[in-house]
Amino acid sequence: MKKLLIMLTPAAMLVLAAPFAIAQESQTPTPVTVDAAKGLSEWDKIYAVFSHPRCADCHVADDRPRWSGAHYGGTRVHAFNVQRGADGSGFGNPGLRCTTCHFSSNSNALHGPPGADNWHLAPAEMAWFGKSSAEICSQIKDPLRNGNRSLKDIALHVRDDKLVAWGWAPGSDREPAPGSAEATYQAIENWIAAGASCPVAQ
Ligand code: HEC
Ligand code: HEC
Repeated sequence: MKKLLIMLTPAAMLVLAAPFAIAQESQTPTPVTVDAAKGLSEWDKIYAVFSHPRCADCHVADDRPRWSGAHYGGTRVHAFNVQRGADGSGFGNPGLRCTTCHFSSNSNALHGPPGADNWHLAPAEMAWFGKSSAEICSQIKDPLRNGNRSLKDIALHVRDDKLVAWGWAPGSDREPAPGSAEATYQAIENWIAAGASCPVAQ
């Protein structure tokens, strides 16, 4: 008998709630079910990571990786005239590939090259360097510019990718990106659950 009561309860609630919902609808618009403020505060955490030099220095719109942050004494284009590569691959030009200097792990020398497998620039359409929070947010959500990824794919990329992981273990005295891969993954999941809203462009 008790079990039956519990099973009936949600249905009974629906019946009771329905007239109320209709009555409300005729007066004011139905309130949004997602929490936009919560979504934006999660986005702020994500933006703090994506815009950090350890991430943004590889996500540039032009052909030059950046050196920026305290370790580099300011912001400048990567020394040695390093370029994206005429083929657009991000691996550099023949003769001066990224992997000429960047190996699969960090150099221990103070200003030696950092490293992770497959070191290369992100495609130009995934640019974050010098971009606003609103611009980065709309890029992340655009499958035409994010490598045709769902937001869930973006979260998994942040949790699992080796180049992303480097941002939290950059070696030498480089300042790591804020938080951790796991915390940023969680912030993206929370942002999605709250409706994945973007800040309004300034
Ligand atoms: C050494 C260069 C490098 C660094 C450092 C780097 N990335 Fe990337 N990133 C890439 C490349 C290359 C791609 C393109 C990968 C692909 O599409 O398969 C990419 C793609 C991405 C993407 C997917 C699509 C998109 O819209 O941008 C995300 C998300 C991302 N990176 C996050 C990060 C975060 C977060 C950090 C810092 C913690 C970071 N990256 C640091 C090179 C880098
Ligand atoms: C001639 C050697 C050389 C080549 C080629 C080279 N780099 Fe570097 N790179 C370095 C050195 C050395 C550093 C570290 C400098 C320091 O710590 O002061 C560095 C640092 C970096 C950083 C770290 C910036 C940060 O935010 O801490 C990135 C990103 C980077 N390089 C990207 C690239 C990419 C992408 C390519 C290929 C398109 C490339 N590099 C090619 C030598 C090289």
